[in-house]
Amino acid sequence: MKHFQFPTRRTFLSWAALGLGGLTQACQASPRSTSQNAATGAIELTVMIGAQEIPTWKPVIDQWEAQQSQIRIKIIEGPTATNLVEDLYTSAFLLGKSPYDLIFMDIVWVPKFAAAGWLLDLTDLLSAADLADFLPADVAGGRYAGGLYRLPARTDAGLLFYRQDLLAAAGYQPPETTLELLKIAQDLQKQQKVRWGYLWQGKQYEGLPAMFVEILAGHGGFWVDSETRTVGLDRPEALNALQFLAETLAAKISPPGVTTYQEEETRRMFQNGDALFLRNWPYVWPLANATDSPVRGKIALKPMVHAPGFASAGCLGGWGWGIAKSTRHPEAAWQAVQHLCSSIAQKQMTLAYGYLPTRRSLYQDPEILQKYPFFPSMLTVLEAAVLRPPIAQYAQASDILQRYLSAALSKRLSPEQALQAAATETRRLLGTGP
Ligand code: GLC
Repeated sequence: MKHFQFPTRRTFLSWAALGLGGLTQACQASPRSTSQNAATGAIELTVMIGAQEIPTWKPVIDQWEAQQSQIRIKIIEGPTATNLVEDLYTSAFLLGKSPYDLIFMDIVWVPKFAAAGWLLDLTDLLSAADLADFLPADVAGGRYAGGLYRLPARTDAGLLFYRQDLLAAAGYQPPETTLELLKIAQDLQKQQKVRWGYLWQGKQYEGLPAMFVEILAGHGGFWVDSETRTVGLDRPEALNALQFLAETLAAKISPPGVTTYQEEETRRMFQNGDALFLRNWPYVWPLANATDSPVRGKIALKPMVHAPGFASAGCLGGWGWGIAKSTRHPEAAWQAVQHLCSSIAQKQMTLAYGYLPTRRSLYQDPEILQKYPFFPSMLTVLEAAVLRPPIAQYAQASDILQRYLSAALSKRLSPEQALQAAATETRRLLGTGP
C-alpha cells in the first residue's frame, strides 16, 4: 500500500491556503483511487463508529457535507461497547486491509494504536495556539511517545446522578461518601420510596474498569502507575473498593442484574424512576430530563462518592478523531478532523446530546449554559478526573481486570482471590512480575 508522506505544518498551511478547491486539484493530480467518486470527484473517507454514536454524528457530518462538495464521510456501523469497536479496528489494521481513513477513538485506545504505528502523527499540523482552547487532559490523552495522534471531540467524566426530589423529601443531603450513599439508599428502599438504591455498570466490558477506576481512586488506590509500572490491584485500597461494590449487591441496594448492565441499561432504569442513585456519564442529563422522561426535573448530579477521608475522582473518558496511516487521503482526512473537533461541531453536539466539549470556551457559551447551568462545575470534575492507565498494553490490562472483577462480582471468586490474580496477570503482562 502506498504510504503518504505526511506534510509539515507549513506545507499543510499552504494547502489550506488553496482552500478545498486546491485540495481537490491536488488529489486529482494523482491516479483516482477507489475511494474517489467517479462522477463528482469527491473523496470518500471511511470511519467506523459505535452504533449508539451514529445518530449523534450524522447531523454534524450531514451539515458539513452540505457546506462543501469535495469530501464525503462514509460511516460503518460498529458494536456499542467501545472495546468491541476497538477489536474490529485492530483486526482490520492487523490484516493490513483496513478500509478506514478516519478513526473515531476512545481515549483508552490511543497508546496501543499509536505504538502499533496505525496512526498519523498530527503534531506538525497544530500550533500551540491551535491547541490552546482544548482542555489539557484531553490533548494529553491523544499523545503518545512525543506524538499527537488524536484530536479530542468530546470529553467525559463519571458522575453520580441522584433523585433530588426523594432526597429532599426525606431530609437528606446528597452523599459525599460511599457510606452515606449506602445508608441513604437502604433507608429509602426500606421506606419503599424507590425500588433500587444504586445502579452502576457491572458487565464484563470496558465500562466496568471505567467505573471501577473511580471507586478505586476514591479509596486511595490505583490500578497501574504508568510511570513506574507498579500494579496496585492487590493492595488493601483496591480490596476496599471492590468490597464496596460487592456490598451494594449483597445488601440488595443494586439489582443482581447490574453485573450484566452497560450504560444504557442503567440509564433506562434510572430514567424510569426505578433507582435513587446512578453512576454514569453526562449524556444521561438531557435524556433523563426530556419531556417524556418520568424523572424530568427531579434529578441532579454531582461528583462521584468516595470513601471517608479520600477525594472524589470521576473517570476521564472521551472520544476524538485520528487519521489512519494507511489512508490515501491524509489531507482530506485532516480537513474532516478539524471540522469534527471544531467549536461549531462540538457546540451542536453538546446542545443536542449533553456531551462535554473539549474546548474550554464552550463552557462559557451562553446558549450552552442556559441549557446546562451545571457545566462550569464540570471543569472542576474534569480537573480531578482519574485516567485509566495510558499504556500500550491497555486493552489487555483492561481485559484482565474486567475478567477478575466480573468473577468477583458474580461470586465465582472471592474479592481477595480475584484481585490477587488480576494483579499477578497484570504484572506478567507488563513484564514486572513472575
Ligand atoms: C464512554 C467513555 C469512554 C469509555 C466508555 C466505557 O464512552 O467516553 O472513554 O471507555 O464510556 O463504556
